[in-house]
Amino acid sequence: ETTQVAVVGGGPAGLMLSHLLARAGVESIVLEARTHEEIRTTHRAGILEDQAVRLLTETGVDSRVRSLGDEHAGIDLRFAGESHPLDFRELVGATVTLYPQNEVFVDLAAARARDGGDVRFGWTVTALADLETERPRLTCTDAEGAEHEIVADVIVGADGSRSLCRRAVDGAQDYRTSYPFAWFGILAEAEKSAAELIYTNSPHGFALISQRSETVQRMYFQCDPEEDVADWSEDRIWAELQRRVAGADGFELATGPILEKTVLPFRSFVREPLRHGRLLLAGDAGHTVPPTGAKGLNLALADVALLGEALAAWYVDGDARPVDAYSDQALRRIWRAQHFSSWMTAMLHTPPDADPFSIRRALGELETLTSSPGGMQHLAECYTGWPNT
Ligand code: DHB
Repeated sequence: ETTQVAVVGGGPAGLMLSHLLARAGVESIVLEARTHEEIRTTHRAGILEDQAVRLLTETGVDSRVRSLGDEHAGIDLRFAGESHPLDFRELVGATVTLYPQNEVFVDLAAARARDGGDVRFGWTVTALADLETERPRLTCTDAEGAEHEIVADVIVGADGSRSLCRRAVDGAQDYRTSYPFAWFGILAEAEKSAAELIYTNSPHGFALISQRSETVQRMYFQCDPEEDVADWSEDRIWAELQRRVAGADGFELATGPILEKTVLPFRSFVREPLRHGRLLLAGDAGHTVPPTGAKGLNLALADVALLGEALAAWYVDGDARPVDAYSDQALRRIWRAQHFSSWMTAMLHTPPDADPFSIRRALGELETLTSSPGGMQHLAECYTGWPNT
């Protein structure tokens, strides 16, 4: 079988790329190992930059993000038991939208189905070959276990942080760092505790209070990477979250039954370059950020916005320069997001072996930031996202 662009991975990055290519008249096949149901029920982050919202709405994906998404004009930075609201609209004239990543996936999959896109769930790619030629190919097995070969002009690896596509290339430069903690994430049936997100530094470690709807809430707290969710009863989880957000203002979380608990891994990773011959990487396959600041999905969508345009220029105008420029161009934004995500992580978390000096230093940093309009403006600029340059 042949196609123009073979897209490995049918998460938001792969589906959005296939959608953008179709709009430019370029044919693609999307291969995704998991089922639609598995991806739809995997909870991920929930904050979209304005440009991600525009990408979804202006390319005709669906307006559900406009009707169901919740516009947030800021966040609360809470430390030493005190709240420090940041108003992004006032600081930088921008907002973000709370709309869960699994809903973005549902919308994109529906748009591809509506437009007759070729998206194959349950298809596992097993090997890539001939990446340095003009006819790269891949082998894959379908949901029934039968083997297939697909020959393409270009293969795009949008297959997530454990990317097979990335591992098919040796000799590239990988940059990585690890963290001595993870996040314990919960979904709970409860009322909202706050209208907007609360990012908390506390003597007991980081906590993040987020929302999903009027009746379901999402919260996270820093934990040991080896933490076993089975050791955490509902009472223990609520007590831990409450002591992290506690303060002189008497702030109290609204609690309720816990619907889900998971430990989320934490790491920073970048592969350079994002291209090897006719293989291009996009999204988590090329780079991973820690979740603090919710850049993962936004970066993935920014990658494919660039890549979609670059491949369209190549097919439609015969201009290879944007494809050649893709890796360098995407990496500029990726490194800004790497810096932002690791900065937010360091400022808000307390490593298990932290010395008293570094704990006080982080509080000094938060104090400096929240007492300076320039400091808050910097955070607001990063959080709401940079233009794709
Ligand atoms: C959410 C996750 C994040 O990592 C973040 O920084 C903000 C919000 C969320 O799941 O709602």
